[in-house]
Amino acid sequence: MQAKAGLVWTYLGPQPAPLVPDWEPFSWKNGFVQIVFAEVPCNWLQAQENSIDPVHFEWMHENWKTRLAGATGPYAPKHLKIGFEEFEHGFVYKRVREGSDESDPLWTVGRVCLWPNGFFLGEHFEWRVPVDDENLLSVTWSFIRVPKEAEPYEQKSIPSWNAPIRDSAGRWITSHVINQDITAWVGQGRIADRTKENLGASDRGISMLRKRLFDELRAVAAGKDPKGLIRDPARNKRVELPNIGRKLYTEGMTLKEYREHPFWKNLLEDFRWHYGQPAEVKREFRAAMGLEAEDN
Ligand SMILES: [Fe+2]
Repeated sequence: MQAKAGLVWTYLGPQPAPLVPDWEPFSWKNGFVQIVFAEVPCNWLQAQENSIDPVHFEWMHENWKTRLAGATGPYAPKHLKIGFEEFEHGFVYKRVREGSDESDPLWTVGRVCLWPNGFFLGEHFEWRVPVDDENLLSVTWSFIRVPKEAEPYEQKSIPSWNAPIRDSAGRWITSHVINQDITAWVGQGRIADRTKENLGASDRGISMLRKRLFDELRAVAAGKDPKGLIRDPARNKRVELPNIGRKLYTEGMTLKEYREHPFWKNLLEDFRWHYGQPAEVKREFRAAMGLEAEDN
């Protein structure tokens, strides 16, 4: 058991235990970190398969958001090309969408499906921690760089909170990004019946993930180390993962640049990943970001 990055990590496998990975973002400065937990009633693997599905972003988040708002369009840019590659710590998925090309970092760098149960989006991690066959604990570790005007910022303690995933009427909450993902996970049932699925070309990553999982289960059964373990302390220092936003997260931007940024401006007003951020965490966040003067 070990504390790191605001979380307590445990290892349940055969001894000797490997090291807790020292992922690079855990050492970033001038950021507001928060940890969000959600108890989700389904098997962890269907959540993890979502981490290697580039096309769901177009439908599950963008187009569905349009439909939830009552509109029938316009729909988001279509995926023109997708690619999957394996590396030491998981898989990378890459995409080219309408309006971009192969020079886009979403193709040249991609996103990380982190082995064995994580998703890394550059400024936040999501882990799908198995609880039992029919339940998982979703753990989100989020870093939000403070504007340059608020530097230097040193966070005294990392807040954590539990996110509701149903509303008071028992309906799934669909307003925030990870809540939308959760509806996809639980919508497959407690344990997805994979005899009824029809994998398509965009599910190639899911096939790669499943094959790797079976191969690694066999390796563990044979007494070998599975993929991705870090045992050498010399290698476990700020371990970098593919990250299209590293420059922004390590160098920062001004509040004016934040407000003008098509994506990051949204984070100033709302924790867009999960519904239900407690008022005290929002207050801490706004103070860290230098936004408190706007509260009235
Ligand atoms: Fe998603």
